[in-house]
Order: sequence, then structure tokens, then C-alpha cells
Amino acid sequence: MLNGEKMLFSGAQATNVLTIGNYIGALKNWVSLSDEYTCLYCVVDEHSITVRQDPATLRKRARELLTLYIATGLDPEKNIIYYQSHVPQHAELAWILNCYTYMGELSRMTQFKDKSAKHADNINAGLFTYPVLMAADILLYQADVVPVGVDQLQHLELTRNIAERFNNIYGDVFTIPEPYVGKVGAKIQSLQDPSKKMSKSDENENASIYMTDPRDVIIRKFKRAVTDNEACVRYSDDQPGIKNLISIYSAFSQKTPEEIEREFDGRGYGEFKLAVGESVADVLEPIQKKQADLLANKDYVDSIIKTNAERASYLATKTLRKVQKKIGFPEIVR
Ligand code: TRP
Repeated sequence: MLNGEKMLFSGAQATNVLTIGNYIGALKNWVSLSDEYTCLYCVVDEHSITVRQDPATLRKRARELLTLYIATGLDPEKNIIYYQSHVPQHAELAWILNCYTYMGELSRMTQFKDKSAKHADNINAGLFTYPVLMAADILLYQADVVPVGVDQLQHLELTRNIAERFNNIYGDVFTIPEPYVGKVGAKIQSLQDPSKKMSKSDENENASIYMTDPRDVIIRKFKRAVTDNEACVRYSDDQPGIKNLISIYSAFSQKTPEEIEREFDGRGYGEFKLAVGESVADVLEPIQKKQADLLANKDYVDSIIKTNAERASYLATKTLRKVQKKIGFPEIVR
């Protein structure tokens, strides 16, 4: 049923609608990895509540993200696609690992520092121990590789330290995970300020293309994208706006930057931007349609959610039992 012998774990939060940057940087690579590894893709809803959430929105977004995973091509029979909150072993292992993680280590996490500055009125203990829950996610499944963005590398390094510390005391319990920083996929920048990364939380909605944007919105946002006065489609650091558009077009059309330069030699920015928009819409439309079909097919999605949580839970239980035994918890009598 599952694919490779090696395990891969990754997770994403459902707190914002994903952008094409997330798609190119993460989702699209995940699809190609699923032949090579046994993959778990988790909607990490327990991480989301470290920041206050509206309950109805959180539930809706979580289901949207889970169906988006499937709509982009992750087969829910070959991959384990599930909600973190449906597998209680995550929280249980996180508690245990909390007792093997130092306050000093957690205080050094840059994401904690950033988020506590941003949410100064709600610096809760969960925000502080967020990386320990992330370590539990990964170690529960003995993951060999973890695809992450650079912003999560510090958390992965901490995960490795916790696992090594635990293994040094109790013997080989956890696989030490490696980060997987994919083939340098195109880095996708903001359409309004190409010096900034395209972000799902950008206040200017013209800056980002969301996975949910319909064709007309996509075309309009590209039409408004920042360019320059060179009037020349060239892949160069001197033209950051145009360079970003070429990267996007290349990622969505499989053409190389050189081919794109040739295609638009002597043609205007208007035509070029339209072609970029069309290529993105051509890829997103079928994904959106598939996602809409899934969201309309409640029973089917519910059955996927149920069986996948069971599959995850089966694997998680094996690790958790081993850990509990090693640390001296009494055996469960059956
Ligand atoms: N913290 C990650 C993020 O915000 C999400 C995440 C949670 C994760 N658990 C994980 C990513 C385990 C990889 C592996 O992007």
C-alpha cells in the first residue's frame, strides 16, 4: 500500500490560504517525493492554537488544506494525509519530550522570539513549547527526511538534538531525521515588491496569488505586478520584477528562462504578463476543480480522514509504546 521504505514527514498549518509560492516551494515537490518515500502529510491544527483562532474558520481551513493536498496530486491511499488532532499520540509524546528539552534551548528559537513580539498579549506556554510538539510529530513516525522551508531548519536541528539526547540515555529509540531542502525550486517573490518573499499573510492582496484565486483575479494581479522601464524580458538581477515573473512562468510552464527570453524577444510586458497569468491559471484551475469536487463529496473525504488517522495512529502507537517502556512507565495490562 505504502511506497518506499524510508519515512518522510511534513506538516503545514491551515491558518492562511496557501499561495503559489507554497505550491512551488512545497506541495509540488511533495507529489514527486511520494513515489520514493512512505509519506505522512499532516495538517498541524494543534500548532495553530498557539495563536488565537476563530473555531469555525480553523475547522474550515483545515478541511480546505487537507483536500488541497489531495487535489494537487497526493494520493490518499499511497500517502497518509491526516489531522494532527485526530492522533492523540502527538500530544502524548510532546509531553514526554518536554521533559527532555531545556528552557534555554527553547528560548533561543527565533520563531518564538518573533511570534512573542507579534502577539505580546498572548505569550502562552504552547507558543514556547511549539518546537517540542513539532519534534514529537517527526519522531513518532521515525521519519528519515523532513521537507521544510529554511525558516523551520532551527526547529529541525532542535528535533535532532532532542532525539540524540533521548537515544543517548535509552539506546536507539528514534531515527535522527534529516532536513530535505528540495532541488532549488524557483523562489517566488511578492508581485508588488520583488525584494520580499511572496507571503500568505501579506496585507496587500495584489502581492500574492492564492491557490484559490480564479482565472480573472490571477490575470488582473499579474497585470498589476511591479516591473521596470527596461521594456525587455530578461532574466537578470537588474530587473527583479521581471526576473520574478520569469521564474513563475518557468515553474508553471516547464520552459527554461532562456526559452522564455527568446519567446518574448521584442514583445511588450503586457503580452508577457498575460502569458504568465494564463500559465498559472491553467495549472490552478484543475486543482481548484478537484478540490471543489472533494469538498462537495463529504462522505468520501470523511472516510479518507478516518482511515488515514487510523493508519497514522497505528505507526505512532508503536513508537509511543517503545518510549513509554524505555522511560519506565508501567506496562498496560490487557
Ligand atoms: N512548524 C511548521 C511550519 O510552521 C509546521 C510543522 C509542524 C511541521 N510540525 C511539523 C513541518 C513537522 C515539518 C515537520 O511550517
